[in-house]
Amino acid sequence: MSSEPDFTRLRYLRETEEDRRENAETTLSVSELIYPIFVTLGSGISRPIDAMPGQFQMSVDVAVEKLGAVHDAGVDKVLLFGLPQYKDSTGSSAQDADEAVQSAVREIKRTLHTMTVITDVCLCEYTDHGHCGIVTAEGHVDNDATLPLLAAAAVSHAEAGADIVAPSAMMDGQVAAIRAGLSHGGFSDTRIMGYSAKYASSFYGPFREAAGSAPQFGDRRSYQMASTQSDEAMREIEADIAEGADFIMVKPALAYLDVIRRASETFPEPPLAAYNVSGEYSAIKAAAANGWLDEESAAMEALMAIKRAGADLIISYFAPDAARWLAQHS
Ligand code: PBG
Repeated sequence: MSSEPDFTRLRYLRETEEDRRENAETTLSVSELIYPIFVTLGSGISRPIDAMPGQFQMSVDVAVEKLGAVHDAGVDKVLLFGLPQYKDSTGSSAQDADEAVQSAVREIKRTLHTMTVITDVCLCEYTDHGHCGIVTAEGHVDNDATLPLLAAAAVSHAEAGADIVAPSAMMDGQVAAIRAGLSHGGFSDTRIMGYSAKYASSFYGPFREAAGSAPQFGDRRSYQMASTQSDEAMREIEADIAEGADFIMVKPALAYLDVIRRASETFPEPPLAAYNVSGEYSAIKAAAANGWLDEESAAMEALMAIKRAGADLIISYFAPDAARWLAQHS
C-alpha cells in the first residue's frame, strides 16, 4: 500500500522562480509589442498628455529621438497618430503629405531603417466634427463617401514610406477600398492591419484627449460595435480577411479577452493584434500613482493575459516599459 496521498502535486510546477519559468505556458516577447505615439508638426515639442501619464504629444524630431531609445530597448514597431495643423468637414489634412504623420513616417524610415512603421488611418483626428467619416446634412456618417478619403489617406502614408496602414474608422469596405487604392498607386507591398473588431468603448476616453478626436456631437455607436456582440466580431474579422487584410485586430483588449480567444481560434491566420487601449493604460497608471496597485506587476499581468488569450501582437502604451521589465527579468 502506497503512503502517497491520492492527489496531484501541481505545486511542484511553481515552487521556485526557475520552476515557474520552465513551466510557463505563455511567454511574452518584446518583438510582439507595438508602441503607439502621437505626433505633431513643429520642433522641440513634448507636451505631456494629462490623462495618460508618461505619454506625450511630440514633434517629429522629439519622436524620432524617443523612438531611437525605444528601438535600442528592442521595440521595433510603432503605430503613429497625428495631430494635424487644420481640420475641416472632410478631414482633408488626413491625406496631406506635409502633415505630421507623413512627415514622421519619412523621418523615422530615414533614421531608423529597421523600425516597422504602422499608421492609423481614420478621419476623426482630422475632421472638425470629430467623427470617423463624412457626416451628411442629417447628421449621419456616410459610409461609402468616406471610403475614397480613407484610401487617399492610406496612399499618402504609403507614399511617405509606411510599412503597414491600419484603418480604424469602422466603415464597411474600408480594407477593400484601401487595398484598391494602394494597388492603383503602385504600393503593392504596403500591408494592411484592419481594426477589424473595434468596439464603441469608454476605454478610449484618454485617447480622445491625446489625439484631440472627441466627436463634437453624438457618439460612435452607429459604426463601432456594441459590447454585447461576439458573433458579429467574427463577421467583421471575416469581412476584413476577405477584403485582403494582412493583420486583424480586436480592440480594446482587456474587456474583450473572450473575443481575442475566439478570434485566434476561428482565424489562425492572419496574425491577430490586440489593442491595449488608453483607458486600460491610464487605469493602471492612476491606481499605481495612488499606491493602490504595483504598476509593473499589474501591467505585465494584463499584457500576459492578452497574449494568453491568443494575441500575436499587442499594441500598448506600456511597450517601452514592458521592454525594460522583460529585460530585467531575463
Ligand atoms: C480612431 C481611434 C481611436 C483609438 C484608436 N484609433 C479612438 C476612437 O475610436 O474613438 C483609440 C485608442 C486608444 O484609446 O488607445 N481613430
